[in-house]
Amino acid sequence: MDKKVATISGGAKNIGKGIALKLLSENWRVAIIDIDKNGLQNLEGSEDILKFCGDVSSEKDVKEFFEKIKEKFGRLDLIVNNAAIGGFKNFLDLSVSEWKKVIDVNLTGYFLMSRFGVPLILENPGKGTIVNIASTRSIMSEPGNEAYSASKSGILGLTHALANSLGPNIRVNAISPGWILHENETISEEEHKQHPVGRAGKISDIAELVLFLSDENKSGFITGANIVIDGGMTRKMIYI
Ligand SMILES: NC(=O)c1ccc[n+]([C@@H]2O[C@H](COP(=O)([O-])OP(=O)(O)OC[C@H]3O[C@@H](n4cnc5c(N)ncnc54)[C@H](O)[C@@H]3O)[C@@H](O)[C@H]2O)c1
Repeated sequence: MDKKVATISGGAKNIGKGIALKLLSENWRVAIIDIDKNGLQNLEGSEDILKFCGDVSSEKDVKEFFEKIKEKFGRLDLIVNNAAIGGFKNFLDLSVSEWKKVIDVNLTGYFLMSRFGVPLILENPGKGTIVNIASTRSIMSEPGNEAYSASKSGILGLTHALANSLGPNIRVNAISPGWILHENETISEEEHKQHPVGRAGKISDIAELVLFLSDENKSGFITGANIVIDGGMTRKMIYI
């Protein structure tokens, strides 16, 4: 029972699922919280997986999720905050409730997962890491991206604040992905080639970075950072 334990929000599909599968393949146990019941059901089950259907923006659901993790695994080493929603809309059509919904899920959800997960890390094993999935939209924009971008920039602030509050026992970092293809998504050659590396991102690009940031021996001097992983797109000047 001394296998490490990770929790991943939004692990029922795409990036979150890829992170969960990568960790399982590296001998971790994983606890997934997702609001998508069908998506969770479609994930293969095993002794090493805890699936929980819940909403990361609900204090009640998140508290219950960590009680279940404590009951089943008795420890926690890594929190991956990944669950998010989009919410792109013309700014003057964006209602206050739509704005609040995006902030509740994308930012308050990350706060709640950290607030109620950290006590378990500190209890057993006493040390661990948090990885917050942000976005390159935290530092650049298109029109209609106010709620999503604000939530993602907020995650960067939450990340460096937590790195200070929780060090030295817990390292806290953000990953800002660029365009990451979903499961079975295909795009044109032109779309790939606009990237300085010649291709769009793969889910495995993000999963490998999460694994690196969770490994004290490899990334033990990194905390409070935001690692941009975007094939170079935020370093490419575009005027037309
Ligand atoms: N795919 C990309 O190109 C890209 C780029 C930059 C950043 N990101 C970020 O990566 C993360 C994952 O993105 P993705 O593309 O895999 O998204 P996705 O929409 O495919 O998956 C998100 C998962 O979160 C779950 N979820 C949504 N709201 C929830 C809630 N309230 N409670 C619990 N679960 C909830 C969904 O059911 C889904 O399974 C997000 O934080 C996203 O902002 C993605």
